[in-house]
Amino acid sequence: MKRTECVVPAAEVEIQKDFIRKIKEINQGRLLKYSLSTFGCQMNENDSERLAGMLSDMGYMETEKNSDSDLIIFNTCCVRENAEEKVYGHLGALKKLKRENPNLIIAVCGCMMQQPEVVEYIKKTYRHVELVFGTHNLYKFPELLYNAVNSKETIIDVWESSGSIVENLPIERKDGVKAWVTIMYGCNNFCSYCIVPYVRGRERSRSVSDIVHEVMTLGQQGYKEITLLGQNVNSYGKDLSDGTSFAGLLHELDKVEGIERIRFMTSHPKDLSDDLIYAMRDCKKVCEHLHLPIQAGSTRILNEMNRKYTKEHYLDLMKKIKEIIPEIALTTDIIVGFPGETEEDFLETLDVMQTVRYDSAYTFLYSKRTGTPAAKMESQVSEETKKERFQRLLEVQNRISKANNEELLGQVVEILVDGTSKNNPEMFTGRTRTNKIVNFKGNDELVGKLIQVRINKIQTWSLEGEVI
Ligand code: SAH
Ligand code: SF4
Ligand code: F3S
Repeated sequence: MKRTECVVPAAEVEIQKDFIRKIKEINQGRLLKYSLSTFGCQMNENDSERLAGMLSDMGYMETEKNSDSDLIIFNTCCVRENAEEKVYGHLGALKKLKRENPNLIIAVCGCMMQQPEVVEYIKKTYRHVELVFGTHNLYKFPELLYNAVNSKETIIDVWESSGSIVENLPIERKDGVKAWVTIMYGCNNFCSYCIVPYVRGRERSRSVSDIVHEVMTLGQQGYKEITLLGQNVNSYGKDLSDGTSFAGLLHELDKVEGIERIRFMTSHPKDLSDDLIYAMRDCKKVCEHLHLPIQAGSTRILNEMNRKYTKEHYLDLMKKIKEIIPEIALTTDIIVGFPGETEEDFLETLDVMQTVRYDSAYTFLYSKRTGTPAAKMESQVSEETKKERFQRLLEVQNRISKANNEELLGQVVEILVDGTSKNNPEMFTGRTRTNKIVNFKGNDELVGKLIQVRINKIQTWSLEGEVI
């Protein structure tokens, strides 16, 4: 496997733009199509928007159908085993298509590729894959694709570590109203169950001026909402060592014209400062929603997880936030069945859920990730126990979510209209500032607008309302 040291001179971006031009010339007069499937978190989605931007500049058009495609790309995730299995399933299914269309190029990139054993496995098992690259050299995609098109061999280029941040890559965003803005890359926390720090590298923050510039452009283009992304946005700026902080960034972005709403994820309880809580209260555009993963309720398990806070600290934090921002909606991530989790430990998780009364919770079965400390821990919990705890958690959370929603019945709330509802094309859909989905009877002219609706029906996961 070819491994390159990661240094990114500024001129590299220009070199890539040359490759984009070269491919565009080759593609002239041909209607080439690509399909791009993204797994994992919003940061991967945002990376895929960069790939889509480069592809569009190269003259490729997007298609939903693999059978129509000249190029198929998978941007992968490895946070849990089932994410990886999905990718292998797709790759296996493409063997036949490649046989029928030898010119088809199949590429895989993203977090899974940062694991050398995965790349070896793909090389051996899925010989029809022609291009493999990682998270740190995504910006080199045009050059790598050019080489893959012009070579009979599989091109593999994965960097072990990250270099400087690459700005000004083309982008084609999926949505016209809401945009993702990655503000930092990587993670330094090394929670003992988590693979992300190994595949995404250390924390690197973009400069305030680059972020403000991107958000101003979004405002001018008509975007109304931005979500700032990072594995732990609370530590944004710490690596810049110039006093830059996440709270400071929010104050800057609050001034950007055109943008009406600002969201962010994810926050880490150990780094959530008072400054940030007050910035959330004082910045008009920052929405009343905080996603603050607890992961587990037992302080003993939190310690084993290397989360660096206790149950009490977390609960105090939640109490303080509710006092300072009474309208705040709270959501979380929870892992059940971490190694050594006993019934008593699990009851502590249920206790946090019932004390905080989250509006929603993303719950996960613990998944063993090779290379992480937790994978080597003894007393792994059986699948059966994990599933049973997961079910109990879900039932409690569903009841709380519904009860929280019931408090909104009859109230008038502001929503930002997204478009037609996926589940019911007759209805339109939007979100409250607290990130709750509201479906309503509307029309195309409302898309992208902030409107007032009265809530007249409650469900566990969504609300229904009428425009007033
Ligand atoms: N940086 C964010 C999110 C990272 S991944 C944070 O710290 O909150 C999203 C979620 O996946 C995590 O919050 C965690 O709940 C879950 N997760 C991560 N590794 C996991 C594993 N090995 N098994 C099960 N869930 C996991
Ligand atoms: Fe993973 Fe923890 Fe980093 Fe989140 S903070 S990405 S859970 S190591
Ligand atoms: Fe998955 Fe990578 Fe995100 S492992 S959760 S896609 S950072």
